[in-house]
Amino acid sequence: MKTSCLIRGLGHCVPETRLTNADLERMVDTTDEWITTRTGVKERRIAAKGETTVSLSHQAALKALENAGMQAEELTHILVATFTPDAYIPSSACMLSDRLGIAGRVCMDISAACSGFLYALETARAFVCLHPEARILVAATDIVSSRIDYTDRSICILFGDGAGAAIVTGSGAAPAAGGRVLDVLVSSNGGVNGLLTVKGGGSGTPYKPGETIRRDFFVEMNGREVFKYAVRNMTAICKTVLEKNGVSKEQVDVFIPHQANLRIIDAVGERMEVPPHKIFTNLQKYGNTSAASVIIAMSEARAEGFIKDGDLVLLGTFGGGFTWGSALVQF
Ligand code: UT7
Repeated sequence: MKTSCLIRGLGHCVPETRLTNADLERMVDTTDEWITTRTGVKERRIAAKGETTVSLSHQAALKALENAGMQAEELTHILVATFTPDAYIPSSACMLSDRLGIAGRVCMDISAACSGFLYALETARAFVCLHPEARILVAATDIVSSRIDYTDRSICILFGDGAGAAIVTGSGAAPAAGGRVLDVLVSSNGGVNGLLTVKGGGSGTPYKPGETIRRDFFVEMNGREVFKYAVRNMTAICKTVLEKNGVSKEQVDVFIPHQANLRIIDAVGERMEVPPHKIFTNLQKYGNTSAASVIIAMSEARAEGFIKDGDLVLLGTFGGGFTWGSALVQF
């Protein structure tokens, strides 16, 4: 088992605006029945004008700080996992630091698509090894709607916007609201080209002044192939983290998989042999919120009492890159 650290507080924030399946029926050639049976999503939240990765992260961070009983001034590091930063420069973490009214902190963004929260959590664990006194804000936020082509029915039905935040420390009293991170595993395969990309506007496919944005500006995906990789890799890494820590599947009280598609969640649950009543889902309400997916789910599950004191929680993620990960948190 690797060095553990504490999650002292959790918070999340989603936009008010709802995009329902009925709304999508009016926008593209689809039906509520198709979306519900193929994905499980009923509605998603979409950022209004002025709502950004930094503004939603700020709201989630304030809730996580309150949950932890801490002030922003106490933070030493700010990490923001996102593929939809407010800007390339400055980083969303620097902008978030300014919103929180603090400066002189270590601030950086982390890009790992839908596995962003676990990559950021693993980075936070490394920081607390180096600096045991560190008090780290880990935010995971995506305004996926900013990179969705709402004429592409195979993609636009899946995603929503949202933010989650956790306050991570290396030591101190066991937190009342939070949990102990027992282990995190993250992995990747950059060799699977073209199955899930957002290329346009990057240095590989830049835009010139006045040029019309192309389809590659938006999320492009081979859904069927991504589905197979997601089930295979999320299952494997979740099994590995259990084996590595000597935890049996029966000891898992709550399983929080990446909220991408109910059929992916069911398939992973079956292969993990974790019964459905232990699996937390909220993708019906929010769709796939990318990096924010599992941290919103963990924050909501804790707030609603789905995660109880003493529960052992298993997290699993999969996303573009490809990236995937798993974590064990003892509440
Ligand atoms: O975080 C990781 C991000 N990505 C994912 O997790 C996505 C993983 N993949 C999936 O969730 C699923 O593959 C999708 C939900 C994207 C698609 O479901 P599917 O069962 O794999 O459908 P499909 O792509 O094989 O398409 C089946 C049919 C096609 O029609 P034909 O060729 O059989 O006539 C599509 O054109 O469904 C059609 N279709 C739709 N029909 C109605 C695709 N999108 C829609 C739609 N409404 N929105």
